[in-house]
Amino acid sequence: MTEITHPLATIPRDELLSRAEADPLRPRFHFVSPAGWLNDPNGVSQWNGTYHLFYQYNPEGAFHHRIQWGHATSADLVTWTDQPVALEPSAGPDAEGCWSGVLVNDDGTPTLVYSGRFEDKELPCVAVGSPDLLNWTKDPGNPVIGAPPAGVDITAYRDHCVWREGGKWRQLVGSGIRHLGGTAFLYESSDLRSWDYLGPLFIGDASQGDPADTDWTGTMWECVDLFRAGQGSLGSAPADNSPDVLVFSAWDDGETRHPLYWIGRYAGDTFEPEALHRLDYGGRFFYAPQSFQDESGRRIMFGWMQEGRSDAAMVEAGWSGVMSLPRVTTVAKDGTLAFSPVPEIAKLRSDHVSVPAQVLVGAGTSVTTGVSGNQLDLELDVQLAPGAEVRLGVLVSADGAEETVIVLGRAADGAPTGTLRLDRTRSSLNPAVDVEDKSGPLPMTDGRVRLRVLVDRSAVEIFANGKPLTARIYPTLGGERVTLAATEGSVRLLSFDAWTMARVFDETRSLLPERK
Ligand code: FRU
Repeated sequence: MTEITHPLATIPRDELLSRAEADPLRPRFHFVSPAGWLNDPNGVSQWNGTYHLFYQYNPEGAFHHRIQWGHATSADLVTWTDQPVALEPSAGPDAEGCWSGVLVNDDGTPTLVYSGRFEDKELPCVAVGSPDLLNWTKDPGNPVIGAPPAGVDITAYRDHCVWREGGKWRQLVGSGIRHLGGTAFLYESSDLRSWDYLGPLFIGDASQGDPADTDWTGTMWECVDLFRAGQGSLGSAPADNSPDVLVFSAWDDGETRHPLYWIGRYAGDTFEPEALHRLDYGGRFFYAPQSFQDESGRRIMFGWMQEGRSDAAMVEAGWSGVMSLPRVTTVAKDGTLAFSPVPEIAKLRSDHVSVPAQVLVGAGTSVTTGVSGNQLDLELDVQLAPGAEVRLGVLVSADGAEETVIVLGRAADGAPTGTLRLDRTRSSLNPAVDVEDKSGPLPMTDGRVRLRVLVDRSAVEIFANGKPLTARIYPTLGGERVTLAATEGSVRLLSFDAWTMARVFDETRSLLPERK
């Protein structure tokens, strides 16, 4: 079958899977769509023990068009079973796409709240699922909210966060108010179908800071996600210091900028912000995150690891977009969020290598790590003297011409905040890919850093003392060496463990999966 329906659909459908599979840059232990395009995680949840991951999907090719909801299930958040597409555009309010949304449990009935796209605009829609969550029926009353709030000049209006509070449903829809900033509109309902508008939960100020800043809040907030971190549920009196967190992805005029979060307190119909933080130092490479609380009480977050190569290169590759590994989200002592990949991921480890503990002193001292590979889990514990800097190279080519370097630095005055940086300047000989530096503040006590690095071909996820930095890299030389060197000061390597990570999909995936 070779059905070409969109100008960018230049790769015949029956060739997409083999192209994607043949790409050496395609991750092997991260979730990726069978082929074609993937963006946001949607409806992330655990239902009767089974984890569900839905995602923005275009099986027609690696470009964003006529978006459907792909679906996969998992018993352990590690290996995934493809399920049939859950939502597909149809005549009516989602004719141009089933955009992002969430899954809620409506008294036993799985229910999706998503953005239906029609005539270049999005409106809230609802669909109900069969008990196994595999068949979805759209509500005849869609869209369930007929228009954005009247009299407000908005930049955009889409994406949903829905929760139960005091016997009613509450919903946020992401938006932005022109000449002010991003916002989330708050609604209330008793049946998920008929909604009363309560007002903006909180309005950002886009005039604050420079639009080039890595924490600029943008002119619209995509994929808002409000939750109580720690103990308790939204709207309840906080039993302890558990903060409320409002996560959003700052967007500006078609540009996906970066995920941010406010720590604060949600009470009544408003959110009182206390502090704004960057959610991931990789910015756009961990975009549109969505979280849920699993049956064991953990808050688990997924994000979309966008590509850093051209639109044309994605189309040619036959696939685009990687889902991050699921992350456990907790509150750190300083009141910010801390992240770590779910421990279940360790199931994929094999071929353990341990690098001996040792002290590296000054300019250029390097260690022979004996570690190599392009599917790796690295765990390091290092102690940096004031002014020290250590560089961990991954995907280093045999001749050293390509390397991707994770840099940890401690301030000369021993300040409790150092720097985490990803130096991608030499990560690829391909001049067309994104190699911009990514960095952020790294909290450390006495120079101690616990570093975890997951390398999966073009996908890299870094966690340093709980602060994440996610990015994509496109090496051309197939380098697999791992190097470690101190470039400044004294660095004590307390431990360094490395494992090879197994792949999670075999080669028998289908673009339009059937019920298993
Ligand atoms: C975020 C986003 C959402 C939208 C979806 C469309 O990446 O733009 O705002 O619902 O992707 O695929």
